Amino acid sequence: MQEILTTPLDDPAAWRGDRMSERTDWINPLNEQMVSEFESAVAAVAAGGVDLFAITRDDFPLPSMHRYFEHMLGALEGGRGFALLRGLPVARWSDAENRIAIWGMGTHLGLPVGQDRAGSLLHDVRDSGRKFGTDDSIRYYQTNHAIRLHTDGGDIFALGCVRQGASGGRSLVVSAVEVFNEIARRRPDLAVVLQESFWMDARGQRPDGARCQVLPIYTRHGGHLSILLKPEYIYSAQRFDDVPRLTDVQHQALELFHQVTQEPGVALEFDLQPGDVLFASNHTVMHGRTEFEDAPDPGNHRHMLRLWLTIPNGRPLPPHYADTREYAQTYRQRMMG
Ligand SMILES: [Fe+2]
Repeated sequence: MQEILTTPLDDPAAWRGDRMSERTDWINPLNEQMVSEFESAVAAVAAGGVDLFAITRDDFPLPSMHRYFEHMLGALEGGRGFALLRGLPVARWSDAENRIAIWGMGTHLGLPVGQDRAGSLLHDVRDSGRKFGTDDSIRYYQTNHAIRLHTDGGDIFALGCVRQGASGGRSLVVSAVEVFNEIARRRPDLAVVLQESFWMDARGQRPDGARCQVLPIYTRHGGHLSILLKPEYIYSAQRFDDVPRLTDVQHQALELFHQVTQEPGVALEFDLQPGDVLFASNHTVMHGRTEFEDAPDPGNHRHMLRLWLTIPNGRPLPPHYADTREYAQTYRQRMMG
């Protein structure tokens, strides 16, 4: 039975961006020793010619980073829900070496999760030149569009910055728990609506081929409040004739949700620098970015590398996450062993 929450939660994952921007304890710089361990590990894998996805934690030793990663996992689940690693020497590495670095780092934090129907484990986030709306399978990470606040799949994502674009592309993170609390304070009735089912366009990514998935935006389960939301996909699901029309209260709930996220001081906004890796919980933190422009030289285009991970200290997942494209694999990894 799903618990329905109608009052604000006292939770470290509830925070405001204006307060967070005054602190720096969410930024975790690598020290010289850590950078040197990364360089040795990347060099050894590059020289070994091993298949990237066959690399395990043992193939990528980072002996002084155990406490660092423990601290990060504690922030991601049970803490504020996001953290920034700063200082990977990305400019000294080739694209192939940067892929090794991100993948190798991921093996220390959790188990990789496929990010699409094809099961791709490491995505390049950059502008493919294609535009959203031109075909049903295009996804925002393949464009230069602004990306509205949403959540990805897996317990957490890691987004490593190899190169920035010429302009724009600022990162945004928002506490979904704080947004819920604000809605519960103003309109507890709409907080309840957000815990009821919505139809979401699956954009051709569901393992079972279903066009839509039907589930609540917020779920309270096992003492945790989790969000799963891609607002565009709720609206784009309305193109299907057999999908029920959004009701008035659903429209109101979505509008209030959007309004709260746009209020001054709610989002934390920053530029990812080359060598930064942003980690965020998909259960408690929404992320987005502003539109960006690339320089003319293709070698200088904005380039991010993305992992989705199941983490060892992750929360129990509600049963209705079992078949979602975001959590099917994490659900199997966690709930079925
Ligand atoms: Fe995303």
